[in-house]
Amino acid sequence: MFTAYKYSFPELILFPPIGFNEERLRERLKGKTILITGASFGIGESLAYKLANTGVHLILVARTAEKLNSIKNKIEKQGGYVSVFPADLSKPAEVAALLPIIHQLPGGVDIVVNNAGKSIRRSINDSLDRQHDFTRTMAINYFGPVQLLLSLIPVLEKNKGHVINISSVSVLLAPAPYWAAYQASKSAFDNWFRCTSPELNATGVSTTSIYLPLVKTRMIAPTAKYQKMPAMNPDHVAAIICRAIINKRRKYAPWWLVFGQLASVIFRYPWEALNTYWLKKKLMDQKQLS
Ligand SMILES: NC(=O)c1ccc[n+]([C@@H]2O[C@H](COP(=O)([O-])OP(=O)(O)OC[C@H]3O[C@@H](n4cnc5c(N)ncnc54)[C@H](OP(=O)(O)O)[C@@H]3O)[C@@H](O)[C@H]2O)c1
Repeated sequence: MFTAYKYSFPELILFPPIGFNEERLRERLKGKTILITGASFGIGESLAYKLANTGVHLILVARTAEKLNSIKNKIEKQGGYVSVFPADLSKPAEVAALLPIIHQLPGGVDIVVNNAGKSIRRSINDSLDRQHDFTRTMAINYFGPVQLLLSLIPVLEKNKGHVINISSVSVLLAPAPYWAAYQASKSAFDNWFRCTSPELNATGVSTTSIYLPLVKTRMIAPTAKYQKMPAMNPDHVAAIICRAIINKRRKYAPWWLVFGQLASVIFRYPWEALNTYWLKKKLMDQKQLS
């Protein structure tokens, strides 16, 4: 299945469309249960719709109950099978309340898509009285999925299941100013997942890390400069996840990421110097204006 997205020319080059075999996806998901966190908006919502006709039991989790219910209604009208569990995955008590419900399912869960996430872009000087920015990004981007998976690993091992982590290209590139909270928390989980992956693989659980560039969702909406930058369509990301479900590849990353990683090593010091120069100039401009 190939979908044409309304991409600009640079977007077509950076994010070439990929397809997947719908029949193979249906075969792979027949009689299975998939848990998607962060399924109420953006990538998670697109994935839920993509899986609507596959016969899989979809378990959708996020905080916004009305949105989850509206997605459930739409998918069930197409013949899909959906359960929704509104929960704040940054709160250990709410994760703990969700887990017995999943464990009580007759077959447990076969695939977990760790997608729920929160992004914050803020300078360190604007964060001095905002310790909560760092605790809340760690809570949802790191501790939430760790708590969820620690409980689900035994059932995933029993089912020879699959865990798919929705990560960001930024965790593999040189760190950028203003992103301390988000990038530290996404890197923390990416590292946790990469450390545990060989252990999980050895017990028959497949693992996939998906490293994404900018994606046009509400996550990037508050950042004005991102609106003009090349960004993927969330439906395109959903297709990548469907392909990963079929081929169980360990990693997806855009083709150009390797060049970015090389440049991050070779040009580390010029990059840091450039950032310092740019930030100093910005501070001076601000002083002149005030
Ligand atoms: N957009 C990008 O440019 C981009 C780039 C790289 C990686 N990613 C990653 O892609 C994933 C999905 O992001 P998106 O772009 O689709 O953003 P989004 O549209 O904002 O969706 C985020 C999802 O996570 C859920 N969520 C947030 N906090 C939660 C919490 N405390 N408990 C439970 N669910 C929570 C949200 O639902 P509720 O608000 O209803 O809870 C929503 O369904 C994230 O992990 C993000 O880091 C995004």
